[in-house]
Amino acid sequence: MSQFNIAVIPGDGIGTEVIPEGIKALEAAAAKHGVELNFTHFDWSCETYHRTGRMMPEDGLDQLKQFDSIFLGAVGFPGVPDHISLWGLLLPIRRAFNQYVNLRPVRLFEGLQSPLANKQAGDIDFYVVRENVEGEYSNIGGIQYEGTDDEVVSQQSIFTRKGTDRILKYAFDLAQSRDKKHLSSATKSNGLFHSMPYWDSRVEAMAERYPDVKVDQFHIDIFTANLVRMPEFYDVIVGSNLFGDILSDLGPACTGTIAIAPSANINPEKEFPSMFEPVHGSAPDIAGQNIANPIGTVWAAAMMMQHLGCDDMHDTIMGAIETVIRDQLALTRDMGGNASTQELGQAIADIIRA
Ligand code: NAD
Ligand code: IPM
Ligand code: MN
Repeated sequence: MSQFNIAVIPGDGIGTEVIPEGIKALEAAAAKHGVELNFTHFDWSCETYHRTGRMMPEDGLDQLKQFDSIFLGAVGFPGVPDHISLWGLLLPIRRAFNQYVNLRPVRLFEGLQSPLANKQAGDIDFYVVRENVEGEYSNIGGIQYEGTDDEVVSQQSIFTRKGTDRILKYAFDLAQSRDKKHLSSATKSNGLFHSMPYWDSRVEAMAERYPDVKVDQFHIDIFTANLVRMPEFYDVIVGSNLFGDILSDLGPACTGTIAIAPSANINPEKEFPSMFEPVHGSAPDIAGQNIANPIGTVWAAAMMMQHLGCDDMHDTIMGAIETVIRDQLALTRDMGGNASTQELGQAIADIIRA
C-alpha cells in the first residue's frame, strides 16, 4: 500500500474552511484506491503572528522538509500587512523548496457559464506556467532619504539564466506533450529595458530545441486583451512571476469563477516537497460564512496526488468535480447556486465514494 505524509497548513480566512473539504475528497479517494494518507496539521497563520511575532516557527521550513507534500489553504488577513504575512510563510516555502514551477490549469467546465459570450466547455483549456521563485517577486531594494522630499524606493527584479531556462523548458515540454503544441510567452519588452528582452531571447533560444512547438510572444497588455477576446487561442502560457500571477486570476475568471482554480508549486526534481493550494486567497469578505467554494482546493488535492504518482486518485477526484458541476448537484454562490462549502465538499466526497 502506498503511503504519504502530508503537511496541512489551512492558514487564514477561508483557507480554514476549504482545506477540510479538500481532505474529505482525499480521504474518500485514498480509501477507494488503497492509499494511506497521514495528515499533520500546522496552525501557522496571521493568528500565529499576533501571538508570536512570526508567521511560522524559526525551524518551520525544517519541520516541513520531511513531508511528501504540503497542502495549503491561504495566507494573509487584515491586521497583518500582506507583505509581512506572505514573506513570512507562503513565499519562503516556495523558495526554500525550490518550487520554481507554478502550474495553474484553466478549464471551462460543462455546467458553468463563462462571462464571455458563446463559450462552451472545451473552448477554454490551457495552462499557465508561472515562474515561481524569482523575477519581480524580490525583497531586494529599499528606501533612501526616508522622510525627506527626496525619498526614493527601489524594487529589484532578478532573472537568472538558470531560472529562466528551467521554467521555459518545463513550459516547452508541457506544450510538446499536448495536441495543439502551442506556447505563448507573456512579456513587456517595450517598457522594461533589461529583464523582458532577456526573457524573449531565452524563449527564442529554447524554441530552437522544440521545432514542433508553435511559439508566439506578446506584450502583457495586449496579452490580457487577447485572453478575454479569444481564450480558445491559448494552450500553454508561460510568464514571469508577476505576469503569471495576473494571468492565472484572469484565466479562471473567464471560466465563471476564480474559486475553482488550483495551483501546484512544483519542485520538478523532487529534491523537496511540492506544495498544492487554490489560486485564490483568504477572501476576508466572505470568511466565516460557510459559502466559500472549495473546488480550487479539491482540484489542487487532485494535482497533489498526480504529482505523488497516484494518477487513479487524481482521475477519481477530477471525475467527481466534473460530475458535481455538470449535474449541478451542489453549487456555491459564486457558481450560481446556494450550497454551503460543506455541502459542496460532501457532494464531491459522496461521488468519489459511490
Ligand atoms: P482573494 O482571492 O482572497 O479574494 C478575491 C475575491 O474572490 C473576493 O471577493 C473573494 O470573496 C472571492 N473569492 C476568493 N476565493 C473564493 C472562494 N473559494 N469562493 C468564493 N469566493 C471566493 O483575493 P484578495 O482579496 O486580493 O486577497 C485577500 C487576502 O488573501 C490578502 O491577504 C492576500 O494577500 C491573500 N492572498 C493569498 C493567496 C495565497 O495564499 N496563495 C492568494 C491570493 C491572495
Ligand atoms: C498567488 C498569490 C500570491 C502570489 C500572493 C499572495 C503573494 O496571489 O498565489 O497567486 O502572488 O504568488
Ligand atoms: Mn495570485
